[in-house]
Amino acid sequence: SQNIILRDLARPRYFGAAMNTTFLFHDQAYTKLIQTQFSAFTPENEMKWEEIEPEPNQFVFGPADEIVKEAQTLYAKVRGHNFEWNNQLAPWVNTSLTAVELDRALQNHITTILNHYRGKLYAVDVVNELISDNTPNETFKQGIWDTKFGEDAIPKALTYARAADPHNTVKLYINEYGTEGIDSKSDALYNVVKGFLADGVPLDGIGFQCHFGLGQVPPTLQQNLRRFTDLGLDVAVTELDINIGTGNPQNATAFALQAQDYWTVVNACVNVERCVGVSVWGVSDDHSWLPNGAVLPWDKNKQPKPAFYAIADAFQGK
Ligand code: G3I
Repeated sequence: SQNIILRDLARPRYFGAAMNTTFLFHDQAYTKLIQTQFSAFTPENEMKWEEIEPEPNQFVFGPADEIVKEAQTLYAKVRGHNFEWNNQLAPWVNTSLTAVELDRALQNHITTILNHYRGKLYAVDVVNELISDNTPNETFKQGIWDTKFGEDAIPKALTYARAADPHNTVKLYINEYGTEGIDSKSDALYNVVKGFLADGVPLDGIGFQCHFGLGQVPPTLQQNLRRFTDLGLDVAVTELDINIGTGNPQNATAFALQAQDYWTVVNACVNVERCVGVSVWGVSDDHSWLPNGAVLPWDKNKQPKPAFYAIADAFQGK
């Protein structure tokens, strides 16, 4: 595995990871993998609203700057994450703002961050997880954005982002989970996006998170990616991990099945021309949002798992 460098095998695509400042430079083996294997990074939490603007117009850029700086040192891309989401919001955003105040807050948030990182971001998840889990009965997820702005919520954020970056240096993304296969939720996303494009709403790409349980990669993943690129958009796999789960033994059989699932996802991206890259949501099993699922391509000792070799094969068309 010493000689296998996934960021090289991925070309012309990128191979990315969520980076976390809790571990960068604090965990040496983690940092070594960050510095050798990846060509794109997404801040796992550091650009989220509660972290980057905890009080009105008080921006805390330090931790996100650390990630952007490290990415630049490594000649890696940065995917900003995220602007409009219902989770990890600063409390002041969630309470007592009128629609007009929330509108100004959103525009200021987006504009200030894009100004700060001008020329340093490859893409940004402007919108995160705003499609309902209850389609087709309801299209948009309930929360502050839907309550205050209704169907204007997503176009507003995308329009503010484009206005702050008029030369289109940053690709503007909608990022979603549970829309990887063709079904009611991804149909809802597809129809919303088609409407936006018809209305001239600025949008460059769709992120498919790809948090899957073992054996749960939808068979229609590649077909689904392709129908979005047929609309003239980029697509990306943004948060890939495969959860073996605590109910299953974490043995060689499970790791082999997990490797197959990683292969299937990376292969789907490789087969779709405008799938620009694959990012995993973490690096090693000890530092994951799912700490018990053995979800990542490196184990808790930072040793490559079968999933690592499967990713290498898929990027090489094997
Ligand atoms: O910042 C506080 C810290 O002050 C406090 O001491 C500590 C105590 O638990 O909590 C810290 O906040 C945690 C935060 O991560 C930063 O570490 C939260 O509890 C924890 O819930 C939060 O989890 C993040 C999660 O998003 C929350 O929404 C995960 O790290 C992150 O991997 C996960 O990422 C999301 C993507 O953004 C969107 N898609 C799904 C994905 C997985 O849930």
